[in-house]
Amino acid sequence: MSNSFYITTPIYYINGTPHIGHAYTTIAADCLARHKRQAGFDVYFLTGTDEHGQKVLKAAQESGLSPIEFADQIIPVFKKTWEKLSITYDDFIRTTEDRHKEAVQYFLQQLYDKGDLYSGEYEGLYCVPCEVFWTEKQAQDHLCPDCKRPLEKIKEKNYFLNISKHQDWLLDYIEKNPEFIRPESRRNEVLAFLKENKLNDLCVSRPHTRLSWGIALPFSPEHVTYVWFDALINYISALGFPHDKAKFEKFWPCAVHLMAKDILRQHAVIWPIMLHSLGIAPPRMIFSHGWWLVEGEKMSKSVGNVVNPLDIIDEFGIDVFRYFLLREVPFGSDGVFSKEALIRRFNADLANDLGNLVYRTLTMAEKNFEGRIPELKECELDAIGRDKIMPKIKGLNAAVNECLEKFDFTGALSAIWELVGVANKYVEETKPWNLKKEGKVKELENFIALLIAVIRVVASEIAPFMPHTASKINAQIKDDHVEKGEPLFPRIVKEKTK
Ligand code: MSP
Repeated sequence: MSNSFYITTPIYYINGTPHIGHAYTTIAADCLARHKRQAGFDVYFLTGTDEHGQKVLKAAQESGLSPIEFADQIIPVFKKTWEKLSITYDDFIRTTEDRHKEAVQYFLQQLYDKGDLYSGEYEGLYCVPCEVFWTEKQAQDHLCPDCKRPLEKIKEKNYFLNISKHQDWLLDYIEKNPEFIRPESRRNEVLAFLKENKLNDLCVSRPHTRLSWGIALPFSPEHVTYVWFDALINYISALGFPHDKAKFEKFWPCAVHLMAKDILRQHAVIWPIMLHSLGIAPPRMIFSHGWWLVEGEKMSKSVGNVVNPLDIIDEFGIDVFRYFLLREVPFGSDGVFSKEALIRRFNADLANDLGNLVYRTLTMAEKNFEGRIPELKECELDAIGRDKIMPKIKGLNAAVNECLEKFDFTGALSAIWELVGVANKYVEETKPWNLKKEGKVKELENFIALLIAVIRVVASEIAPFMPHTASKINAQIKDDHVEKGEPLFPRIVKEKTK
């Protein structure tokens, strides 16, 4: 079994700055990357930016810059945001980099040489802002089915990828590989789509006269590559395709492409067929999560309901934001973002549960044993310690692994918090102040040793989700003594009452 783990986020459009939707996918990918690294995997975590196409050209024109100047000034905003969210990507790809352009041109040339790209007269209804062609049948009112703006009738020479040829292969592949598209509901959607529709060949070029900002087709310089064809190749250009065979073979096929459901079809239909046309294996998994909604709508620049992740972390902290996004809604479902919900989670799970457990345990260690950590003697534990807590401590890593194998972040966090909850209950039931009064020193030692063992394993398992909290806890619990700090999560009092 290979020890490598290649995980990607979509490459984001740069006509806006990152919002919490982009942060969500990137944080989820970061959590998995950290988790796999912690488990000893050789991880390659890729994110980046999608810089060609009409949208970027338009945004650049509006700011009076050339497209590349525009891109160069916005990339630092992306990088800074990911840095502030403690994103540990291994590579950040820009589609304007030479390594990417070369890979796209190589890809195109190979397809052309094989005869899988052919030229033809294209006539269709085109949505300029979305950069998508629609058929008469799809858009009978000549309005874009996605954005509802008027479509333009266009006739021009273009190049097409023969994707219809591979439809049966793809259908068969998806059917034989149940893990290829996740979650199940999305897999069923793609299967139904492929069964009910005959795929049209994909127009992979745009005449230079209509779109100047893109990668030129090597065999027809008066055309540039369609932005999606260009963008999807980032997943292999970042691995050094086609020249760096060692790196490519080490990490491809990709363990998982993460994205939201808006771009599932490009990833689950176009991309595997593009790869298959060149005899390259498809990614092992495509996981499509849900949308964060704000006031009932998908967040978008045009709706004007964008939440900036940097504002949230300034107010609540990085780990709180990461925790909230991954805990609040099951990965795959839609969620509603609100500060009230975040504060509720903060007070309940972080202040009352985890923060309290750490603070009270370290306080007891200081008060009773001058900060020394007593030795854990399993054979001397009481019934709750032995039967309820110890098995949970020993089983936590496996439980978290099992959940994260299924991208079940909420499940993994619930398993961790179940142990925190049991430990807090143990404190309330044991009443350590009585042990002290009754002079039961041995019992008190075991009790505190067990709580420290709980906190240690919790710190280790939350590290991929909340790296700073894990470090703070580890800094307070040394090998043989504790050094209590400030409470980790002081309660937020401005919670709204309903
Ligand atoms: N550039 C293309 C992707 C090319 S990948 C080869 C693109 N870019 S995008 O900037 O629009 O990013 C879309 C992705 O951002 C979604 O698939 C998702 O990962 C993330 N999200 C954007 N808004 C989101 C929400 N409101 N909620 C959850 N995720 C969101 O499409």
